[in-house]
Amino acid sequence: MRVRVFAHPDGLARALALDVARRLTETPDLVLGLPTGRTPIPFYRELVRLHQAGRADFSRATTFNLDEFLGLAPRDPRSYRAFMQRHLFDRVNLSSRRIQFLNGVTHDVERECRRYERAIERAGGIGLQILGLGMNGHIGFNEPARALVARTHCTRLKRATRRANAAFFDNRVSAVPAEALSMGMATILHAGRIVLLATGATKARCVERMIAGPVTPRLPGSFLQLHRRAEIWLDRAAATRL
Ligand code: GLP
Repeated sequence: MRVRVFAHPDGLARALALDVARRLTETPDLVLGLPTGRTPIPFYRELVRLHQAGRADFSRATTFNLDEFLGLAPRDPRSYRAFMQRHLFDRVNLSSRRIQFLNGVTHDVERECRRYERAIERAGGIGLQILGLGMNGHIGFNEPARALVARTHCTRLKRATRRANAAFFDNRVSAVPAEALSMGMATILHAGRIVLLATGATKARCVERMIAGPVTPRLPGSFLQLHRRAEIWLDRAAATRL
């Protein structure tokens, strides 16, 4: 895994946004895998800025988000879909038919998961997958477990994960859905290139285990060690234990 350490999260966000903008110029029909969470917000802000400056054209790009809460409709302001609309989709020239998202209010979970896998395949696979890192080492919503699920699936969220997401639910852990849909670890590992972002001191221990520890489903992020083009982009605070 290639590790890059930036002095400040804003520098990281700028560098990644420039990287994506460059890739969009080279490959206008780029297929991007995108995360939610607090970590990528400065990156989305930078992407929007580059788009406004005429330096990032999304007109032919496709996006697939990693995950969505089960039971939340796309229009629900607490859904990941709504998060993405606010931070990126409403602010750049992505074509709405090329924005792909898991439907949290599907009536047939298995079918929805299969549909997503097929859509990724039909798009030619994910060229660049950007990831965040959960406090417990989860990726997307692939939670630490005895075994991981390879493909897009429905998963039960850990209490710690629901707590970490409570800020988006009036700080009420009980209001955070107990289940979610998520790309699986194989879905993620099939991307051509992966960039995982982690910032802040609270992630330092997890980052250390992910990079220097064994590959284990107890820390799903450690599976990135198996990928040929996985990069870990950190700020100084998240890199203190390396
Ligand atoms: C959620 C998302 C993950 C994300 C994680 C970290 O649980 N499902 O995809 O990486 O949060 O969030 P944050 O960036 O806020 O620490």
